[in-house]
Amino acid sequence: MSKNTDELFKNVIAHAKEYGFVFPSSEIYDGLSAVYDYGQFGAELKNNLKTYWWKSMVQLHDNIVGIDSAIFMHPKIWKASGHVDGFSDPMIDNKDSNKRYRADQLLEDRIAKLDEEGKTSEAEELQVEMDNALKAENLPRLRELIIEQNIKCPISGTANWTEVRQFNLMFSTQVGAIADESDTIYLRPETAQGIFVNYLNVQKSGRMKIPFGIAQIGKAFRNEVIARQFIIRMREFEQMEMQYFVRPGTQKEWFEKWKAARLKWHLALGTDAAKYRYHEHTKLAHYADAAYDIEFEFPFGFKEVEGIHSRTDFDLSQHQQFSGKKMQYFDPEIDPATDKPYGNYIPYVIETSIGLDRMFLLTMINAYEEEDLSTAEKQDSRTVLHLHPCLAPVKAAIFPLTKKDGLPEKAREIMDQLKLDFNLQYEEKDAIGKRYRRQDAIGTPFCITVDHQTLEDNTVTIRHRDSMQQERVAADELDKIIGDLVSWKNLLK
Ligand code: GAP
Repeated sequence: MSKNTDELFKNVIAHAKEYGFVFPSSEIYDGLSAVYDYGQFGAELKNNLKTYWWKSMVQLHDNIVGIDSAIFMHPKIWKASGHVDGFSDPMIDNKDSNKRYRADQLLEDRIAKLDEEGKTSEAEELQVEMDNALKAENLPRLRELIIEQNIKCPISGTANWTEVRQFNLMFSTQVGAIADESDTIYLRPETAQGIFVNYLNVQKSGRMKIPFGIAQIGKAFRNEVIARQFIIRMREFEQMEMQYFVRPGTQKEWFEKWKAARLKWHLALGTDAAKYRYHEHTKLAHYADAAYDIEFEFPFGFKEVEGIHSRTDFDLSQHQQFSGKKMQYFDPEIDPATDKPYGNYIPYVIETSIGLDRMFLLTMINAYEEEDLSTAEKQDSRTVLHLHPCLAPVKAAIFPLTKKDGLPEKAREIMDQLKLDFNLQYEEKDAIGKRYRRQDAIGTPFCITVDHQTLEDNTVTIRHRDSMQQERVAADELDKIIGDLVSWKNLLK
């Protein structure tokens, strides 16, 4: 990370805390590693991101519905899904510092360094070697590569490494009063399984016909060993996932459709397309036959924000086997090849899975600007969040010019009308310029000032966040002006 991007990232983290977006969890007890809390504006922004996703995935598709399944599920689910045996990371410890690292991450950092130094062919060679070792689950080979590359622990500075071992990422706990192995349950590491085990309930109760989708937003938990980069890698995080159930043999076509549709969703927010790229998985998860990530260029490099996975019929077949319950769907449509109904089959699944917290960070970084407003006469600057108006936590702030002459009462009266439709803030403290700056810092698209003229002709000044232009408008028009700018139609059309 160059000094500038490093500084930008640090400034965004500091801004997120100072303005009530994200706080370290349990801060008064010195924090809890890789866990964060969302503050008053962070919670609003997060809710708006959820709404954007839910509207576009669920409400705009008549064949996709949303559910909300429990975090606790029968422990056999995780055996069937392969998470008990296969959801692990290869870890290595440094014997001198007693610090634990992800073996693949150490090698990835080394590859990035080789790339930075212009040693492209060496980087590519190492990437291939590492991918092969990961695919073959050849842990001794991963260790060999770390030794060959002379990778040292950043704390102890030595290359005194242990063997590489697999470390399961699921958190477990006990139900009931008596701790007994049969009572062990897991905190879900993905929301997807809640969809799989409910797929027939939803299909039957909703009379859904293939292809159809089930979507869900919810918490997921992973015992990440390495906490990294703020809210990028957390132990408790939120996912927005959709499973699309399709006829076997059509999965490639749907995979391509969802891959394109999901990138379009990201770009509709106005983000520079050059900041996004697809990354094809070479090491596929145990359930997938194809997988792409949508990556965003964070200040510390391109990182995965969303995964599009072709999960085959793996999960449903496993649940059929482990539960002993039929997971088949009866397809009454006529197969032109046989002139008979397609009949009973276990559907294939295309999954789109986006990390809400990563999307949140991406949005903050994209929006953040330290703007120099200096003129020949005076130095000036502001920090502004150019958030898409639909995502802005506060849609408009209402300021009485002064605290007297009936202006606060008039401002409150205008606010009472508008607050039924929009999230607003009322502020009367400090000079107007200072109040503008505070709203710029949280990304409020409009500031509305009520002054003495308002009492005479019911007009107000409205100031636009990005252009900082002000205009005088009738108070009765505010509803339409704000409504037009923050309407979800602008994003969803
Ligand atoms: N159901 C598929 C699944 O869970 P994944 O690629 O492991 O796939 C999906 O996770 C998304 O969840 C990722 O693209 C990422 O945005 C987010 N995610 C995964 N682990 C995370 C973590 N520890 N902290 C924050 N977000 C995470």
